[in-house]
Amino acid sequence: MPQTYITTPIYYVNGDPHLGSAYTMIITDTLARYYRARGWDTFYLTGTDEHGNKIAEAAAQAGVSPKEFTDRVSASFRAAWDTCDITYDHFIRTTDPYHIRYVQDFLTRVHDAGDIYFDRYGGLYCVGCERFYTPKELRDGKCPDHLTEPTLIEEENYFFRMSKYQERLLRHIEANPDFIRPEGFKNEVIGMLRDENLGDLCISRPKSRLAWGIELPFDQRYVTYVWFDALINYVSGLKYKGEETYEKFWPVAQHVIGKDILKPHGVFWPTMLMSAGLPLYKHLNVHGFWTVEGQKMSKSLGNVISPLEMKEKIGLDAFRYFLLRESVFGQDADFRQENLTNRYNGDLANNLGNLVSRTLSMQDRYFKGVVQPFSTPAPEIDQRLAAAFAQASNEVETHVTNLALNRALESIFRATNEANKYITDTAPFTLAKDPAQMPRVGAVLHNLLEGLRVAAQLLIPFLPETSNKLLTLLNLPQERWNNYRLPWGRAFPVGHQVQKSQVLFPRLQ
Ligand code: MSP
Repeated sequence: MPQTYITTPIYYVNGDPHLGSAYTMIITDTLARYYRARGWDTFYLTGTDEHGNKIAEAAAQAGVSPKEFTDRVSASFRAAWDTCDITYDHFIRTTDPYHIRYVQDFLTRVHDAGDIYFDRYGGLYCVGCERFYTPKELRDGKCPDHLTEPTLIEEENYFFRMSKYQERLLRHIEANPDFIRPEGFKNEVIGMLRDENLGDLCISRPKSRLAWGIELPFDQRYVTYVWFDALINYVSGLKYKGEETYEKFWPVAQHVIGKDILKPHGVFWPTMLMSAGLPLYKHLNVHGFWTVEGQKMSKSLGNVISPLEMKEKIGLDAFRYFLLRESVFGQDADFRQENLTNRYNGDLANNLGNLVSRTLSMQDRYFKGVVQPFSTPAPEIDQRLAAAFAQASNEVETHVTNLALNRALESIFRATNEANKYITDTAPFTLAKDPAQMPRVGAVLHNLLEGLRVAAQLLIPFLPETSNKLLTLLNLPQERWNNYRLPWGRAFPVGHQVQKSQVLFPRLQ
């Protein structure tokens, strides 16, 4: 059985789930559901990143201990993802004891490999990013992401000999062109690795400055740098389930991240793995950023989109549909109310929703929901409809493999649109006026039910709630539920009973 391991970034607990994190979750949840539906052995990990200055500061501001604070916020993240029906297999917290132990093991391995040294260092640190910046990376002396002035920090610390692995990583990326996708981000990392000043990575913080972290196994005066701690979650989260789980899934790991954290994942992490003597992950999949009505999302602008509110307003599936259909993986996207309304009314209500309600209501009106025989031999127009759905099935596979989730949806909705045209062209409502034509009406509806069945099966990963409802309306027996490869015409024996129509997507004003 093929396997895959899908991860999300683990979220800092100084904020709430928002459009950005929800996007990462919806992409990864779609991938996990997709592979599960195709019988792959799938492990899907998410969680929270709870150490570091930023969290310690947020806890202090909230007037509680870091432990109390992180317990509370981590639980609220988890609850939010549960409310959004995100099907993660394990939720990791960097404050979990097994994670802490594994980070210390990992550090010991890197230390034993001779890749850690002690040195004095001064540099410009951005707490928002939790990393040092070189003067060249700053814009007008400010962090390009947070637009805040970094703090000058000078102290003695431990360093990881990242530069030792620079060449080897460069060769690995060149030999494995799909290690980092899409290509633009691969090239960005290659650029970082070709930079002679990449240097080493400061991996500790003195406890005198920051106590909220994992203690270094070789010096109790220090805690480990938050990124060093956080990245290791991808391995500790598997190890926690046992060596067998680790052995099975680590070699097929696919990370999904936003472009803001490309350097830690594309440079720090693989060199850390090399030093610890672990195999590298298989893919790093990098997505773009969302703006809202053309602007950066921020609390101060008051334009933050909450997934929980979207669920209330338009439903989870419509939210998923919009994010997945409206963005191209790897590119930035813009959340516009107008586009949301158009996509919802155009694709969900008019295209898919109408197809469902027209098909099921005619099936009910003319045959009390009972499936009728096909026309034999099948007229060309019936064959063309079957072919449109077969094409959608094939395209979905190619597109998901290439992370083109928008195009996968486009293919499915192109087929349902063909089905709507098929209704117009065959005009069953006109034929039904002549009793002699009723066998043809029955055959047309049988074809439409097959189309709905394939669409529902292809939509399982993307619109889980809708496809569930639809497969229930079709009364599709459980053993055929997942099988989108079931040949056309085999899903509903003549005499099979389907349910009455329902409005899946009430139109938005
Ligand atoms: N804790 C680190 C990740 C450690 S992974 C070992 C972190 N956390 S975060 O909470 O700040 O952000 C996590 C992710 O949220 C980003 O990588 C990105 O995937 C997503 N996004 C945050 N804002 C976003 C948008 N506006 N648009 C799209 N995704 C964005 O970084």
